Amino acid sequence: MLAANTLLHNRYLIIRQLGQGGMGAVYLATDQTFGSTVALKETLITDDLLRKAFEREARLLNSLHHAALPHVFDYFFESNGQFLVMQFIPGEDLGQHMKKSGRGFDPQLVLKWADQLLDLLDYLHSHEPPIVHRDIKPENLKLTARGDIILLDFGLAKGAVDQMTLVSNKSLFGYTPHYAPFEQVRGTGTDARSDLYSLAATIFHLLTATLPPDALTRAESALNGEPDPLANLPAMLPMVPAQVSYVLQRALAQKRDHRFANATEMRAALSGAIRAGGVQSSVPPGGTLVEPPPATNPNNPWAQVPTVGHSYSPTAAPVYPSNPPPPGYPSNPPTPTYPSNPPAPAYPSNPQYGQPQPGYGVAQPSVPPTQPQAQG
Ligand SMILES: Nc1ncnc2c1ncn2[C@@H]1O[C@H](COP(=O)(O)OP(=O)(O)O)[C@@H](O)[C@H]1O
Ligand SMILES: [Mg+2]
Repeated sequence: MLAANTLLHNRYLIIRQLGQGGMGAVYLATDQTFGSTVALKETLITDDLLRKAFEREARLLNSLHHAALPHVFDYFFESNGQFLVMQFIPGEDLGQHMKKSGRGFDPQLVLKWADQLLDLLDYLHSHEPPIVHRDIKPENLKLTARGDIILLDFGLAKGAVDQMTLVSNKSLFGYTPHYAPFEQVRGTGTDARSDLYSLAATIFHLLTATLPPDALTRAESALNGEPDPLANLPAMLPMVPAQVSYVLQRALAQKRDHRFANATEMRAALSGAIRAGGVQSSVPPGGTLVEPPPATNPNNPWAQVPTVGHSYSPTAAPVYPSNPPPPGYPSNPPTPTYPSNPPAPAYPSNPQYGQPQPGYGVAQPSVPPTQPQAQG
């Protein structure tokens, strides 16, 4: 760990450590050239090939421009470490936030972030070659001062660096079990649809403050002839309209062919579902970011269904409710038909965070898995 006041690259003065990951630490530092505050992400790899890979990744990240990505300004090598210099995003990550509050976020905010992240994924996945992030989760999300979402941590990104190089180094593989799709856990190869799964699992967590059941547990249920723990998502997500749950359910399909083909499709489906279902904010004017979800949503028939069995841990199998669907919702919901090109959802203004920014560009990256121990 680098001590405060350590000067790196004759330019960056360490202030303190911000986070600790599997591959190194993240530090807050002052860029003495500009007098600005930056985040320095350290990756402790000495291998020469990986050094080249890191260099390519840094160049790629520097060339990416999207409102939901931190700017990467510089990179350098110093004493066994490689450092990315990037925009500092203050505040807690969304995982820390939920741990502290013990609550999910306002559904309206979560769906705004989902839209912003789908725009980012569209941008990343449209890159040539596509960039698959492969580690979308609350711990890798932060908010700007305006309440817009930022996706951090391209450490597992595929497309950013040479695959063969990465394959040669096991430590670069990893995944976070509860958010990783089956194909990533099994190591059979990820693509853009893998990010859609992780995004949907992340949205589930942000709404409920509860980890979604992981892909292996779900596969085991199927093997045992038991229902998929995520079979009845509308009952588990009473704070959003059933239409929104169906979109998430499709993105969470174990078979990737059953998911949306790409981020654009999912984004359109989600905005169509939001328009059709209506999502009420539980943040009162001048209220705080994290509020309990509304007890009922008049637009959502599932809101009357009591929620139980939200706790989930790898040691105790969750008991998910087997609520019968209300009239009009088939137990095995058909894929809803979505308008082919719906307009962007209209989000009511939020006095604390202002209006969502229009015009997010288009976005894509990623690297493969190992031991279920990706951190941060
Ligand atoms: N640009 C940044 N600004 C502020 N904090 C950051 C930034 N990048 C990372 N962090 C903090 O450091 C933690 C670890 O960084 P991350 O990129 O996720 O690396 P890891 O691979 O170790 O998970 C994050 O969860 C976040 O709290
Ligand atoms: Mg991380």
